[in-house]
This record gives sequence, C-alpha cells and structure tokens, in this order.
Amino acid sequence: MTPLGYHHRFEAAPADAPVAPPLLLLHGTGGNENDLITFGRRISPGSALLSPRGDVSEHGARRFFARLAEGVFDPAEVTRRTYALADFVIAATAHYGIDRTRLIAVGLSNGANIAATMLQLRPDTLAGAILLRPMVVLDQPAPAGSLTGKRVLIASGNADPIVPQDHPSHLAALLQAGGANVTIHTASAGHNLAAADLSASQHFLSQTAK
Ligand code: MLT
Repeated sequence: MTPLGYHHRFEAAPADAPVAPPLLLLHGTGGNENDLITFGRRISPGSALLSPRGDVSEHGARRFFARLAEGVFDPAEVTRRTYALADFVIAATAHYGIDRTRLIAVGLSNGANIAATMLQLRPDTLAGAILLRPMVVLDQPAPAGSLTGKRVLIASGNADPIVPQDHPSHLAALLQAGGANVTIHTASAGHNLAAADLSASQHFLSQTAK
C-alpha cells in the first residue's frame, strides 16, 4: 500500500512531446502496473501514464475486483472496489498534477471491466475510455446525462472465449444510456491483445480533442 492507496507506476509526459491526454492504464488478471506501459506509450507517445496495480489477489493473480467464477461477480464488492479505485485516481491525479478532465482509461480484460464500472458509478473520474475485451459486470445503465461528452472505444475479439458475444453491444447500450459516445471495434482476435487493438486505439485517440 502506498500513501495514495494503490501500488502504481507513474510516467510523466515527455517534455518535448505534444500535449496529449493523460492515460490511466489498468492491467488484466495476473498482470501488474508494468504491463500496459509500452502499449500506452505506443498509442500516445505524448501522454502521462498512471498505472495502478490491482489490489485483489486471485490465488496470487492480481485483479481490480474479485471473481466468484468466470463471469460471476458480487455487485457490492465490485462497487466498493470501483469507488476505491476512483478515489485513488482523484488523489493520484492531484498528486502528480495530471489534468483529470482529460484522463482516458485504457483497460484490458479485468482492467477494462473496472474502467467500465467507473464510468457507470463514478463518471466524473474519467473523460473517456478504451476498453479492451470488456464484458458486462454491472448490468445497470449509466444515469442519464452522466456520460455526456465522454468517448468510449470497446475493442472486442470475434473469437474471445471469455466474453460472451452479446456483451460488447450490451455494454455499449448501458454506457450510451448515460450519453456516452461509444464505438465498437471488433478484431479477428481472442481475449488477448492483437495488432488491430493498437491501430484502433491510436485512431480513437487521434479523434479525441487535443
Ligand atoms: C473478469 O473477471 O474481470 C473477466 O473475466 C476478465 C478476466 O479477468 O479474465
């Protein structure tokens, strides 16, 4: 535990780079705060990177909330963990001088799932999100108007053995209920990152207001 609440890695934006939105990097199950640094740098070389380590252990595999079985979650626990991560984001962005009004989450798998629940439960924490292989965890629409002006990319895989095929569109609808501008990109891929995710993420960020 650190004073800010989560072990994490922070990489400042390069001094000579164009100003780009800061990224909140959220790793998948079994990962850590280092996993998405290279991906984050590649999709946005000019961004500051804030990368916490999941504080839940599933037999030693780090996650951001618990899993009762594959795709089965305790909504109360997910809610508690989501609030804790959102509180960390608020504290860490203030600590490092990151502009939270421009903060884009980039989450993979379990990290994508908690980014989605942050959008649903704590919409003021993020300006938008790149959700790589998310599923529906909290089946509840975002409150009307809570996500107005926020852009979300859902990057799914057409051969994903973990995410049910109807979840990307269902998650999109839950976020659109709050006013989010959601794009779904489906790659020829399974649950792991593919080259198409890199290009889709770069394209998404290129469309984000500078
Ligand atoms: C989850 O538990 O968040 C999802 O099953 C994704 C995963 O971690 O594999």
